[in-house]
Amino acid sequence: MKLSLASFLVAAVALQPALSVRTNSLLIDPAALPALPSAQQAASASADVGLNLTNIQGDILIGMKKNKELFFFFTIVNPTLFRSQLGSGILPLITPTSQLLAVDTQPTTAVNIAFSQRGLNALGITDDLGDTAFTNGQIDNVATILGDETSNWEPAFAGTGIHGVFLLASDTIDNVNATLSQVQNILNGSITEAYSLQGQARPGDEQGHEHFGFMDGISNPAVTGFSTPLPGQQVLDPGLFLLGESGDLVSRPSWAKDGSFLAFRQLQQRVPEFNAFLVDNALSNPNLTADQNAELLGARMMGRWKSGAPVDLAPTVDDPVLAADPQQNNNFNYTHPGFDEATDQTHCPFSAHVRKTNPRSDLNPEDTANHIIRAGIPYGPEVTDAENASNVSSTDPSLERGLAFVAYQSDINNGFAFLQQNWANNANTRNLKLTWNFSPLFMQGIDPIIGTGGLGQADVPRTPSGLDPSDPTRIITINQDFVVSRGGEYFFSPSLSAIQNTLSLGA
Ligand code: HEM
Ligand SMILES: *[C@@H]1O[C@H](CO)[C@@H](O)[C@H](O)[C@H]1NC(C)=O
Ligand SMILES: *[C@@H]1O[C@H](CO)[C@@H](O)[C@H](O)[C@H]1NC(C)=O
Ligand SMILES: *[C@@H]1O[C@H](CO)[C@@H](O)[C@H](O)[C@H]1NC(C)=O
Ligand SMILES: *[C@@H]1O[C@H](CO)[C@@H](O)[C@H](O)[C@H]1NC(C)=O
Ligand SMILES: *[C@@H]1O[C@H](CO)[C@@H](O)[C@H](O)[C@H]1NC(C)=O
Ligand SMILES: *[C@@H]1O[C@H](CO)[C@@H](O)[C@H](O)[C@H]1NC(C)=O
Repeated sequence: MKLSLASFLVAAVALQPALSVRTNSLLIDPAALPALPSAQQAASASADVGLNLTNIQGDILIGMKKNKELFFFFTIVNPTLFRSQLGSGILPLITPTSQLLAVDTQPTTAVNIAFSQRGLNALGITDDLGDTAFTNGQIDNVATILGDETSNWEPAFAGTGIHGVFLLASDTIDNVNATLSQVQNILNGSITEAYSLQGQARPGDEQGHEHFGFMDGISNPAVTGFSTPLPGQQVLDPGLFLLGESGDLVSRPSWAKDGSFLAFRQLQQRVPEFNAFLVDNALSNPNLTADQNAELLGARMMGRWKSGAPVDLAPTVDDPVLAADPQQNNNFNYTHPGFDEATDQTHCPFSAHVRKTNPRSDLNPEDTANHIIRAGIPYGPEVTDAENASNVSSTDPSLERGLAFVAYQSDINNGFAFLQQNWANNANTRNLKLTWNFSPLFMQGIDPIIGTGGLGQADVPRTPSGLDPSDPTRIITINQDFVVSRGGEYFFSPSLSAIQNTLSLGA
C-alpha cells in the first residue's frame, strides 16, 4: 500500500502515544533485584557530589529492568538534516535518569541515543574521546580480544553502516513502535535502519531471568551520587561509568562530560544444548534427585542458582528466601572462616561466571578499575517444544534467542573488553594478577558460560575444575559454546547538554 505524504503524516500523528501521566511503571521490578533509589534519595545523593541526573541519559545507571526494549541501529544519510532535527525534535524525547525514578514522571516510552565513532565522524565531530576501543570499533576487537568467530557476526555489525542506536523502552511493544514512528517522522529521512533487535523480559515467573533460566541483574555496582549501597555491593566512583566525573582520570573534550561508553553485544544462547549438557553431566549428590543434580551443575557454572541465590552462600542447595532478599543476596565475597580462599572451591567454583566477572575479595585489595554497569535484556522467543525435544536450537532466525547485552563504563578497555579478555577467556586469572600463588592443581579454567578458549574458533573445550563440590579438583570438560557472539558495536551515550550544544545544529 502506498500512502501519500499527507495521509502518512495523519497516520503518524495518530500513532503518537497520548501524553498521559503513567500509573504503572515502564520498568519491571522482580524481588531479587535492588530497588532503584527514589527521586528524592537520588536528588540528595547526587547533590552531595554535584552529579546532574537530569543531564545523564536514563539507561546508564538504572540496570536491567526494562520490560520491552528495541535497539534500533541507524545510518545517518543526511547529517545536516539529522543535526537540525536532533536538538529541536529528538532532544525533548530523550529520557534523563531523573525522569525514570518515579512512575508519574516516566514517559510512555523512554528514549536514549548513542553514537559509534563512525556516527560521530559522519556528523563531523572529530574530537578524540580518549578511548581507543571506541575509536577503532568493536570489529577491531573481534578475535584476539573477545575470542569471537567473525563468521557468526550479524553482517550489519561487521559492516560500516552502524552510526548510532536508539534505545526505546516501555511496558508494551505498541508504545515502542509508536515512539519509533514518531522518531522517524521527526528525523524526516535523515537516517535509515541498519539493523534492529527487539528485546523483552521473559514471560510470567521467568520475568527478570535470562534465557538459561537464571535471575539476572542482581549485582551491579553502587554508584556514589546515585544509589545507597546494599550489603555486599561495591561502592564505586561515578567516573568509572561517566566521563569527566570524579574517578575518571582521562583527559576528554569538555562536552563529553556525563556521557558513557555503551558496549553492545548480541549474545545468542543455545538453551536446549545447555539444558541437555546439564542433564548429561548432572552431579551425583545422593541427597538430590537427578533433576536437582542437573540444576546444581548449572548453578555452579553460573555462581548463582536460577532463583538468584549465590552459590558462595548456598553451595549445594537452592535457597529461594535468600535469593529474593536484596539485603542478603549480594552479600558474599568468597571468604569463609576456616577455609583457605586460595584453594577452596567447595563454596563457589573459581571459574563460575559471576566470580570470573567480579572476583570480589579474590583480589586483595578489591579491584576498583574493572567494572561495568549491566543494562541488557533478553531477546527472542521461548524455547519451542521441538527444540526442547531435539536438544538442538532451531536454525530458524526468528527463533534465535539470547541476551542483548549492554555494558556502560568510562573506559571500554578497562570495562567490558577487560572482563571478557582477561578474566572470562583466561584460565589463570589469579596467576595473571600475581596476587596468589598459582598452582596447576587449582587450575580454574575459563568462564563456562561466556568464555572462549579458542580465540576466534567455536566449541574449543573448556576444562574448569570446582564444579563438583564433592570433588573440587575434578575437571568437567565442556566441548561446546552455549553462548555464541553475533557481534556488536561500541557506542558513546552523550549527555543531554552535549546533544543540545555539540551534536545538534541551530539549537
Ligand atoms: C548470554 C550471556 C550471559 C549470560 C546468560 C549472563 C548471565 C548472568 C547471570 C545469570 C548473572 C548473575 C546475576 C547477577 O549477579 O546479576 C550474571 C552476572 C554478571 N555478568 Fe553475566 N551473563 C552473560 C554475559 C556477560 C558478559 C559478556 C559479561 C562481561 C564481559 C558479563 C558480566 C557479568 C557481571 C560483571 C556480573 C555480575 C557479577 C557479580 O557482581 O557478582 N556477563 N550474568
Ligand atoms: C543539568 O542538566 C540539564 C540538562 O542538560 C540542564 O538543563 C541543567 O541546567 C543542568 N543543571 C545544572 C545545575 O547544571
Ligand atoms: C512493531 O513493529 C514491528 C516492526 O515494524 C512489527 O513487526 C511488529 O508487529 C509491531 N508490533 C506491534 C505489537 O505492533
Ligand atoms: C521533511 O522533508 C520534506 C521532504 O524532503 C521537506 O519538504 C520538509 O520540509 C521536511 N521537514 C522538515 C521539518 O525539515
Ligand atoms: C568478607 O565478608 C566477611 C563477612 O561479611 C567479612 O567479615 C570480611 O572482612 C570480608 N573479607 C574481605 C576480604 O573483604
Ligand atoms: C523439555 O522437555 C522435558 C522432557 O523431554 C521436560 O521435562 C522439560 O520440562 C522441558 N523443558 C521445557 C523448558 O519445556
Ligand atoms: C535430549 O537430551 C536428554 C538429556 O540428555 C536425553 O534424555 C534425550 O534422549 C535427548 N533427546 C534426543 C532426541 O537426543
